[in-house]
Parts: sequence; structure tokens; C-alpha cells
Amino acid sequence: MSDFGLVVSGAMAVRQLVYISTASNLDAAEVERILEISRKNNAEAGISGFLLYNGRNFLQLVEGEEQALTALYDRLGSDPRHDGMVRLADEPIAERSCPDWQMHQLRLADDVIRRRELLMAELPDKLSRDIRQLVLNFAALN
Ligand SMILES: Cc1cc2nc3c(=O)[nH]c(=O)nc-3n(C[C@H](O)[C@H](O)[C@H](O)COP(=O)(O)O)c2cc1C
Repeated sequence: MSDFGLVVSGAMAVRQLVYISTASNLDAAEVERILEISRKNNAEAGISGFLLYNGRNFLQLVEGEEQALTALYDRLGSDPRHDGMVRLADEPIAERSCPDWQMHQLRLADDVIRRRELLMAELPDKLSRDIRQLVLNFAALN
């Protein structure tokens, strides 16, 4: 019975958030630096997720406990390497979609058809249908 209680309270505390933003003029090395610091910080803060960069825009999914996620979102909001953040999804989740990705970069293949296929194969199974569609739509935008 206590197990059940733990599962429920753990599940209620995790939130998942997806946003898009417009990148400032970033080269690959800068994106690599972002990923490096993200992985280090996220491991400590219990945040998992993924990042897509199409050369102009970011789409990022982050999931974790409420407080850690809010702190990260505030930091992201004042990072000059992107602006115009728009939150596309933000809700409590029962289970993390990508618990093993401290910040995984999903790379976009040049060929649009291939890109969709590769992404579908790489996206975690636990991702909701809506978020999966959102990511695929973003990937098709250029
Ligand atoms: C598109 C984008 C995504 C980022 N994702 C993360 C992230 O997942 N985790 C993180 O700690 N920092 C992330 N950062 C970097 C933060 O904005 C910030 O620079 C970093 O956390 C260090 O913050 P501090 O200088 O206040 O310590 C991201 C930055 C950008 C531009």
C-alpha cells in the first residue's frame, strides 16, 4: 500500500514542457556547448529531454520536477542565444517520455522524407501522440 502512495505522489510531481524559439546566429560549436552544459546541469537537476535545431529555430522538450523545470525555464528565458520562446505544451505526466536522455540532440536529416522516418524511429515510444505530431510538424517546416 505504501508503494502505491509513492507511485502516485511521484507521478503527480513530474511535468513535461515543450517550447519553440528563434535562435540567434549560432554555429554548431555553440549548439554543442549548450548541449554539454545542459547534460551536466540536467543530470544534477533530474531533468530529461531532447533538443531539435533546424538552423533557425529550436524545439525543446524538458521534463522533470516542477521546481527544477520552472528554474530551467526562467534561465532559458534570459538566454540571449535564442528568443521568442513559445510554450506549445506544458502538463503533468504520469511517466517520463525520455528518462535516459539528459539532453539528447535529435538530428534532422537533409531529405524531408528520410527525416520523418528517422525521427519516427528515434522518438521515444512513451511520447504522447500529440507531442510526437508536434515534433514531426516542426521537422517538416523547412
Ligand atoms: C535552446 C537552448 C536550450 C537549453 N537547454 C538547457 C537545458 O536543458 N538545461 C540547462 O541547464 N541549460 C540549458 N540551456 C542553457 C541555459 O540557458 C543556461 O545558459 C545554462 O543553464 C547556464 O545557466 P547559468 O549561466 O545561469 O548557470 C539551453 C540554452 C538554449 C539556448
